[in-house]
Amino acid sequence: MKILVTGGAGFIGGNFVQYMVNKYPEHMIYNLDLLTYAGDLTKHRDIEHDENYRFVKADIADRATIMELFETEQFDYVVHFAAESHVDRSITEPEIFIQTNVLGTQVLLDAAKAINVKKFVHVSTDEVYGDLDFDPTTFFTEDTPLAPNSPYSASKASSDLLVRAYHETYGLPMNITRCSNNYGPFHFPEKLIPLTISRVLADQKVPVYGNGANVRDWLHVLDHCAAIDLVLHKGENGEVYNVGGHNERTNLEIVKTIIAQLGKSEDLIEFVTDRLGHDLRYAIDPTKLEALGWQPTYNFDTGIEQTIEWYLENKWWWENIISGEYQQYFEKQYGNR
Ligand SMILES: NC(=O)c1ccc[n+]([C@@H]2O[C@H](COP(=O)([O-])OP(=O)(O)OC[C@H]3O[C@@H](n4cnc5c(N)ncnc54)[C@H](O)[C@@H]3O)[C@@H](O)[C@H]2O)c1
Repeated sequence: MKILVTGGAGFIGGNFVQYMVNKYPEHMIYNLDLLTYAGDLTKHRDIEHDENYRFVKADIADRATIMELFETEQFDYVVHFAAESHVDRSITEPEIFIQTNVLGTQVLLDAAKAINVKKFVHVSTDEVYGDLDFDPTTFFTEDTPLAPNSPYSASKASSDLLVRAYHETYGLPMNITRCSNNYGPFHFPEKLIPLTISRVLADQKVPVYGNGANVRDWLHVLDHCAAIDLVLHKGENGEVYNVGGHNERTNLEIVKTIIAQLGKSEDLIEFVTDRLGHDLRYAIDPTKLEALGWQPTYNFDTGIEQTIEWYLENKWWWENIISGEYQQYFEKQYGNR
């Protein structure tokens, strides 16, 4: 069995590639990635020589290369993570989000259709549903209308609609998953949790948007990997599945939790001008996925503790990343703090 994973050098795709290579030695796992600023292969040093792992460097929007690769390799399944994924970057540079997330997805769909893949799993986000107010009894279900608010979520919603259209029009077997915010090992340091850990460890100010009251529903990345594996094998053709673990926290709570575990002072917190169009709250109802047999195995309190430990033990990975282009990005986004 040949399984193509796109974006397998990034955070979630990278965890998924490792999960699949280790769990299914009988399957060939291909990792296709362009290695943008968000992708790196050092995270795969434990699997890079495994016989059932292969890396292909390519741009999902490069039609000729992608069509040829699919014709040659005849993949059975595609699990599509590759994307521009950072909301802040989509506000300053929306175009690349359309190029990769919309046009790139369309190229993959054409290639998957041409060789009749058994299933195309499209990994999307709860951000396509827009946001919720602070009423704790309201959740996103799969029937919540799409109402994306940022260029990032608009590009993801557009790609979701293309996947749906290829299923309806051409009969392409597919599932779409929409998950909440992930956390765990190999999370790129521009995102809230690893950014806070790396700044606090260096006794640097931690920028928090607005008053820090925005709520996110946190999901451990390995629970997400298990969910996608389940959807790949058992998801009903054409269905959408929400993935979330009922772990709602405000951004300020997250930052304070990390500061407390690292034994530092809350004086490091610095409130900064809010993100444009900042969504208030995301919260997932995962009932449909639970009916397939999925349950999260991490609770947030132990999951975040283990994640902080992981960052302490794996400085070799992230210290290298924050020393390069990332530094320029941070200064552009938050100023020189
Ligand atoms: N991180 C989250 O909390 C979260 C939540 C919900 C959904 N998602 C979705 O999950 C997927 C993975 O997210 P992530 O956080 O791992 O992203 P990431 O930014 O860490 O990784 C994205 C990967 O895609 C690769 N890539 C980018 N453009 C490419 C192109 N044109 N061709 C080939 N590869 C390309 C990058 O090199 C990188 O390795 C995305 O589709 C994202 O929308 C993420």
